[in-house]
Amino acid sequence: MGTAPKRITVPWVREARARGERLVMVTAYDFPGGRLADQAGVDLVLVGDSLAMVVLGHDDTLAVTMDEMLHHVRAARRGVARALLVADMPFGSFHLGPEQAVANALRFVKEAGAQAVKIEGARIDVVRALVDAEIPVMAHLGLTPQSIHRFGGFRVQGRGAEARTALLEAARAVEEAGAFALVLECIPSELAREVTSELGIPTLGIGAGAACDGQVLVFHDLLGIEERIAPRFVRRYAELGRDTRQALEAFARDVRSGAFPSPQEAFDDPGFPAPRVERLYGA
Ligand code: KIV
Repeated sequence: MGTAPKRITVPWVREARARGERLVMVTAYDFPGGRLADQAGVDLVLVGDSLAMVVLGHDDTLAVTMDEMLHHVRAARRGVARALLVADMPFGSFHLGPEQAVANALRFVKEAGAQAVKIEGARIDVVRALVDAEIPVMAHLGLTPQSIHRFGGFRVQGRGAEARTALLEAARAVEEAGAFALVLECIPSELAREVTSELGIPTLGIGAGAACDGQVLVFHDLLGIEERIAPRFVRRYAELGRDTRQALEAFARDVRSGAFPSPQEAFDDPGFPAPRVERLYGA
């Protein structure tokens, strides 16, 4: 195991396997999410286009725009000091080709402080152009949600000989094109193991078993905030949806009963300590 760096870099991520370290990535979409993930010591923070679903309330990821993504990457940037900040290229932001991809990825780097971008699918021309433009690329294969209409829904990918071969070839091609890491989403564990052992770059799994070099989960899934869907690959480490609802119910009860605010929580109490008032207003 190497010593933990002050700031995570792309080369540090690329060499994780050689150091025998598993990578931890989590999504975040705003300042508090980015800050909490960073303080928890995760290696990579991804501002995923899952933003569309877990924050903006869409049923899939297709609608989210560059401007919406930029807004959230900027917010997450303010919270992330140590982890590598990766911005997800949304649907339609690179599909017209390398020129469009580079123009949009540059916006993530220059306007929002992203250190790398993630691209769904085996767009080799795009990966190569981004790498040539000095923008590190994380590739993403398997169940790429931007392809749900072609897949016919959120379905496990890479099943069957033909699909396995295609995925292996795509993985080799994105590595060859210069990607520094690869997300493998919802593919059989054996296939993820094979891809991981074939590639030199690290793999980050989500619903791809334990053989990957690291794991990624969506913030709102692992904290129990997203309650509409519960994929089997998600482990919930907290029930913040339930806890938040209970806290808000308690607040509503206290307001309606008159239990909130108490004299100590108001300014007309003669015993109210002056220093706290000063702190509240920064006087
Ligand atoms: O958008 C996202 O959150 C992602 C992760 C699930 C890898 O792409």
